[in-house]
Amino acid sequence: MAMKEMLSRRKDTAVFDARMARCHDELEWLFMELYDDREALNTLEQAMADAWAARSAELKKLDAAREADPGWYRRGKMFGMTMYTDLFAGDLKKLPYLKEQKLTYLHLMPLLKMPHPHNDGGYAVEDFNQVDPSLGTNADLAALTKKLRAAGISLCLDFVMNHTASSHEWACRAKAGDLYYQNFYHCFDDRTVPDQYDRTVPDQYERTVPQVFPNTAPGNFTWCEEMHKWVLTTFHPYQWDLNYRNPAVLVEMTRSMLNLANLGVEVLRIDAVPYIWKQLGTNCRNLPQVHTIVRIIRMVLETVCPAVILKGEVVMAPSELAAYFGTPDKPECHMLYSVSTMVNLWSALASRDVRLLKAQLDALNALGPQCWFVNYLRCHDDIGWGLDEDVERYLGIDPQLHKEFLYHFYEGRFEGSWAKGEVYNYDPVTRDARSCGTTASLCGVEQALEQGSDAALHTALRRDLLMHGAMAFFKGFPMLNSGDEIGQLNGWGYKEDPDLADDSRNLHRTKFNWDNAAKRTQPGTLQNELWQGLEELRELRSDPCFGPDAWFTTWDTHNNGVLGLVRRRDSRTLAGVFNFTAEPQHLWLDALDGAWRDRKTGAGADVRDLWLQPYEMRVLVCE
Ligand code: GLC
Repeated sequence: MAMKEMLSRRKDTAVFDARMARCHDELEWLFMELYDDREALNTLEQAMADAWAARSAELKKLDAAREADPGWYRRGKMFGMTMYTDLFAGDLKKLPYLKEQKLTYLHLMPLLKMPHPHNDGGYAVEDFNQVDPSLGTNADLAALTKKLRAAGISLCLDFVMNHTASSHEWACRAKAGDLYYQNFYHCFDDRTVPDQYDRTVPDQYERTVPQVFPNTAPGNFTWCEEMHKWVLTTFHPYQWDLNYRNPAVLVEMTRSMLNLANLGVEVLRIDAVPYIWKQLGTNCRNLPQVHTIVRIIRMVLETVCPAVILKGEVVMAPSELAAYFGTPDKPECHMLYSVSTMVNLWSALASRDVRLLKAQLDALNALGPQCWFVNYLRCHDDIGWGLDEDVERYLGIDPQLHKEFLYHFYEGRFEGSWAKGEVYNYDPVTRDARSCGTTASLCGVEQALEQGSDAALHTALRRDLLMHGAMAFFKGFPMLNSGDEIGQLNGWGYKEDPDLADDSRNLHRTKFNWDNAAKRTQPGTLQNELWQGLEELRELRSDPCFGPDAWFTTWDTHNNGVLGLVRRRDSRTLAGVFNFTAEPQHLWLDALDGAWRDRKTGAGADVRDLWLQPYEMRVLVCE
């Protein structure tokens, strides 16, 4: 071997060894505490070394750059989008369209091998190491991440941690009677063998574990005829929960995660992560072992591929969120979805009252500086009305009535509602339900177009931009749902497709409308108005007050219909005020001395005496 190559290999190994040395003790301690299985730990460490050996020089360069700049994902210019590859462009040849929007972050919905047609939008994975043949190959994915990287766009992919498709090879082997693979899942002989309390194991689980899809997939267990066993299936019957008590599961899943990292994926969205550890007698959510596993994964990534970061899908109350960030010394996820602010934004819009939203923002802000959020209005999922009931009661709001108001409102079945949407998973027992629809349709664009009313359309677009504007102001970075930039409407046609009809989330999972996208440059179209509005938000986020170290807080506006937000960096302060009502509103901001001007027009402004038009957003600046 040439001397030069030998030296470079040595250097390469030294980098890995140094990183390994940094985390090894903790990794060993956590792994052994959880599994007490040294052989499995050795296998994990070997998988890490193998992944490092297989990692390309280009990605290793990116690792080094990110290690030197660990806050890269907190920059103000971060702007994201999420989409289904096939709904957008089949083969993602439309990169220029993404570049035009100056995106820096792209979340492609699950694209790994999945059964067809029932795959829960790709969340039933048949092979964690292979792109679904209907979408392309692994080589295509590697080529895509390379192109995106060159365009300054980081690719985020889902890593569905909690379950596999029931047609995954492990499940097939389990069905064929292979006990090794049956132990990859939670399998029980039957429900009829009682325990000492006269309950079978599945039935014991059912007593304490809530249902995720009470309507479309009731219960948490599925009978498997081939195996003659009950399988734990928290989500759909064809999604088998993995058994993370078995260390082989964690090792194999980590191996696949590292494969994706080596294909150039930069953000892993760890799907449904709160559910991965099960314990009888609990609700099987957010258990301490979940955090041990996320921490292990974080250390694995920091050792093998520090360019890659973790985004947790934690659809839980704010009180549960902080734990998923870990501590500054022992961090877990880099960022989380800001689910509660999303839900509260929609609640504020319907009720014309920002008090609950403000309380949620304050609660999240109190979580500490390591917390960082992906802010969004809509994604592929429903809006689950998980509001903070204690705060609601404190404000004199009846939680149950408010929830019913919200889902009826966004279904368009409440007097005066402008929205068009649908209810999702109505549970007649709890009268709980969630909502579906695109941002534009939920904001009133669809109804206004049907009515042919220019005034209603104008108001709907104001609402839509107000929601985007507020969301882009929050701590973290904004992520659009593909189509929102051109006001994509609900796709009611899914009801005609028997494979899609029973899941109303398909209402907002529609084919991207390229004809409408073409109108984005035509003045006077609704597409152009939204497009321009979002361009303004991107410009706003280049303001130094959106830097990673900026201070962010809510501010009293003395008006329950108006949200006030303040950002400060050094001597520069921005105040954003957002009118969530259909009427002009008066407001004032205390204790913000200085010479203020409107950031857009430059006109002087008196923050002690401000008026906002219906659904208007204004940003004021003081230096
Ligand atoms: C996540 C996904 C959702 C899916 C579920 C089960 O919550 O966002 O679409 O149904 O996981 O994988």
